[in-house]
Amino acid sequence: MGVFCYLMEAPYLTWAMIGPDGVVTRPPTAVTDIDRPVMIHDMALTRRFLVLVLGPLYFDVRAAIRGGSLLSWRPEDGTRIALIPRNGGPVRWAHTETFWTWHGANAFDDGDDEDAPVVLDYVHWSHPAGLMPGLATGGLARATIEPRAGTVQRTWLDQGSMELPRVDDRRIGGRHERIAVASVTGRRDLVGGDHDALTIYDTRTGSRVRWDAGNLAVGEPVFVPRPGTVEADDGWWVTFATDRTDGESWFLVLAAGDPGSGPVARVRIPTRVPLGLHGSWLPTEE
Ligand SMILES: [Fe+2]
Repeated sequence: MGVFCYLMEAPYLTWAMIGPDGVVTRPPTAVTDIDRPVMIHDMALTRRFLVLVLGPLYFDVRAAIRGGSLLSWRPEDGTRIALIPRNGGPVRWAHTETFWTWHGANAFDDGDDEDAPVVLDYVHWSHPAGLMPGLATGGLARATIEPRAGTVQRTWLDQGSMELPRVDDRRIGGRHERIAVASVTGRRDLVGGDHDALTIYDTRTGSRVRWDAGNLAVGEPVFVPRPGTVEADDGWWVTFATDRTDGESWFLVLAAGDPGSGPVARVRIPTRVPLGLHGSWLPTEE
């Protein structure tokens, strides 16, 4: 797997690779061309590249010491995407109009040749909520990045308020068929970061299925494959959820073939599970 680390001091950003046996195969390596500390929340990994989106959100320690905000949003700078070759070659930079993202769903190489585009599916925001006046808007977007030209083309898979996108973990770095997100129905008054639905997209057809979770505030959906299968919908989407009416938390299981019908099983969790957690499903045996 690939990892990244942002730092308050030069070199500000490093990356590394770790093999499936836990051995570091690429020690922390600096990304040059960065001249100040920048906040990055997530990354994606293709067969060729680590993919990092650098929105213009900088750490400003001096401002924080003076009582201001530690984070500074500078939309005039635009957003950059770094394609970092896993083999250690020079970083390919792409520049695009300003946007912000917390979470990517997945990325993959769209072809086998050296200059093939990189496709990144992610949750797009106009700006980080709370750091600029005005409502942050966005949706589920697909960025097609040309490594040699440094260009980015964006298309919308959907627009609206959503977060915590996930694919079947077996598809990470390759082509995925589904993206699941925590989303909002628009039927309820929700505080920031609350979601009252799960939506599962078919990225090949553009169709989507939504489950209205009612009083449950749902979290990140994680795909659990049925053991021994490889098909896209042969398994379950699971998530934690907390009931807004009584604060009880639940582990929910939705059939991936029919998520719109809601959970086929739910397990009460004996403690409250905070919203916004990330998680992974680890089978006890294959
Ligand atoms: Fe996160």
